[in-house]
Amino acid sequence: MRLPGHAHRRHPDDIVIGPLDLPARVDEALAVQAVAFGLGADEVAVRRQIVLRHMTYPGARALGATTEGDRLVGFVYGMPNSRGHWWSTVVEPYLRAQGLDDWLDDSFVITELHVHPGYQNRGVGRALITTITDSADEPRSILSAIDIESPARGLYRSLGYQDLARRVLFPSAPKPYAVMGAPLPLRR
Ligand SMILES: CC(C)(COP(=O)(O)OP(=O)(O)OC[C@H]1O[C@@H](n2cnc3c(N)ncnc32)[C@H](O)[C@@H]1OP(=O)(O)O)[C@@H](O)C(=O)NCCC(=O)NCCS
Repeated sequence: MRLPGHAHRRHPDDIVIGPLDLPARVDEALAVQAVAFGLGADEVAVRRQIVLRHMTYPGARALGATTEGDRLVGFVYGMPNSRGHWWSTVVEPYLRAQGLDDWLDDSFVITELHVHPGYQNRGVGRALITTITDSADEPRSILSAIDIESPARGLYRSLGYQDLARRVLFPSAPKPYAVMGAPLPLRR
């Protein structure tokens, strides 16, 4: 039985949001990310090692969106931020230049959020990010997104995320990113 407010939430279309054993289902998750975000086989292989390492970090956790047949159609994962993490070391100078690098402390970072294109625009992405941040002890959340007007940027803004820095360049990525931050709990 599923009770209101329980970690498992049932959505229209019989999608269930619940805890995801990401290391065990990393290949399914990366298959979703590959089609949602556009990753080639080489990038998937690199991401696989990164995801498995991330999930060993303190407080790292993941949620999945699954169909009745237990097909994974979306996932989110994140962790309490640490200034020692690679992502933080890249964005820190950009935030510091704006006087906003305190956002790197006491913050829950959303590392990845992806929904299979066949299941987008039904509230699944919104449910994943609000549910994972509702379980965070930190008073705020940060993330990075490609610095264009995308559904992701629209979703994050609607949840209260604001731009902290723009045109952020990651060594491995050709496109610039925006770093965004929001107070928790996220706006509904
Ligand atoms: C971003 C993503 C996870 C959202 O998942 P989703 O399940 O489709 O999102 P939801 O249905 O919960 O929310 C849709 C919201 O996105 C925003 N959105 C959707 N399409 C949009 C568009 N064309 N322009 C602007 N905002 C848009 C809206 O805020 C919308 O909310 P609303 O339905 O209340 O209007 C999904 O689009 C995705 O996987 N994209 C590709 C991968 C990606 O970019 N991931 C994020 C990396 S930072």
